[in-house]
Amino acid sequence: MNNPTVVPGSRPLVGALPLLQENPLRVMERAVLEHGPVTRLPLPGADGYVLGSPMLAQHVLVTNVKNYVKQTRAYEMLRMVLGNGLVTSEGDFWKRQRRIAQPAFHRERLAGFGLVMTRAANEMVGRWELGVPFDFATEMMRCTLRVVGETLLSADVMSQADHVGAALTDALEHLIHRTLHPLSAPDWVPTGRNRRFHRALETLDGVVLGLIAERRKGQGPTGDLLAMLMESKDPETGEGMTDAQLRDEAMTIFLAGHETTANNLAWTMMLVGQAPEVERRLLAEASEVLGTGTPSMESVHRLPYGTNVIKESLRLYPPVWSLGRRVVEEEVVDGWRFPKDALLFVSPWAIHRLPEFWPEPLKFNPDRWNVEDPRRQHGSYLPFSMGQRKCIGDSFAMMEAQLIFTTVLQRVHLELVPGQDFEPEPVITLRPSHGVKVVATRR
Ligand code: HEM
Repeated sequence: MNNPTVVPGSRPLVGALPLLQENPLRVMERAVLEHGPVTRLPLPGADGYVLGSPMLAQHVLVTNVKNYVKQTRAYEMLRMVLGNGLVTSEGDFWKRQRRIAQPAFHRERLAGFGLVMTRAANEMVGRWELGVPFDFATEMMRCTLRVVGETLLSADVMSQADHVGAALTDALEHLIHRTLHPLSAPDWVPTGRNRRFHRALETLDGVVLGLIAERRKGQGPTGDLLAMLMESKDPETGEGMTDAQLRDEAMTIFLAGHETTANNLAWTMMLVGQAPEVERRLLAEASEVLGTGTPSMESVHRLPYGTNVIKESLRLYPPVWSLGRRVVEEEVVDGWRFPKDALLFVSPWAIHRLPEFWPEPLKFNPDRWNVEDPRRQHGSYLPFSMGQRKCIGDSFAMMEAQLIFTTVLQRVHLELVPGQDFEPEPVITLRPSHGVKVVATRR
């Protein structure tokens, strides 16, 4: 049996928790890059293991997925906001919901969504004041929130985008704090932090339940994701979904469908803003394929360099930087023993930096994607996770990121404001902690 290294710096009783509280990305990275395929992370109440090999990631997420469930502290916290929606539910209930939701993401639907994406991007650029610095990351949050609202829920959230966005940020910050500080005051204690969290939840509930109530009155469109969920009937009882279930699914789509893509776009701006040659090639490709026209789902496939840029940005800054699972029954995999109830961490952030799969791993090099490497199918690249719980919105997100970024580049030149610190901050998803400040000038 292999004996995993214990993460250095662990202390009696609290184990590695203080290290995780201080810098979880660094903990994952050091474990994977310095200690090999499995590193033990002692934690209060359970042992954790960081998996540093694509093969083990694949085992947990694909091969024997039923033995690795989402019963972890982080998902428990997420359930406080998302309830029992697609990201957080499990078993037969999840399977049914996924089956109902899947057609909303089919290729033929995505083509129509492309128009919403480029329209949202164009209107956003139209509002930017040339020469005046602004935060690109905040703009992306608004834009992707609008896109997910219009495409999947047929909701115009723009009038409420700012306070929905702020409420989501407040809620997420609270969740990560609670995940990393298990001894902080329980939610019913009226601390400033808890009150802010409850206010945020009320705001979000107000928006989402309002949307559902409108639909219940028989108003509104048919055929979007929300309509599909509302029309579905339980095969055994024949009953439709309750408002509470619909709320959980809609809230999940709002959150899962905008934060991640917005962060990817912010990181892409940060990377491209420091690589003038990449920007030049992106523009050359866009101008050759599109002229001055607007990109679409169809033309995205003819912009391979643009796709490589997004893939490479997702490699270096995967918005979902860690996936946690709990072991149901003890299992020995490739000589490593995972005890019952242990916590396993698969970290895309760390695995995407393994030099045996990614030569010069810290280099932003979109051209590395020109070479087909079959190993990438098997766990060395997993920004969208893999297996049955893989992101339902992966194609949606890839298309959206590329359409928005191309539209922005075609219209304006963006210069990064000098002297910024682009510290990655893992607030559930990975975001630049101080945003990405830019100044726009005319092309
Ligand atoms: C760059 C953007 C995105 C990234 C990096 C991303 C990443 C991920 C990852 C890693 C998971 C698995 C999470 C887990 O195991 O807990 C996931 C799940 C999910 N994502 Fe995404 N996502 C993105 C965009 C989107 C979009 C645009 C949507 C919807 C419009 C979406 C909807 C979902 C849903 C519903 C799930 C749960 C799927 C299930 O378990 O059946 N995501 N995403």
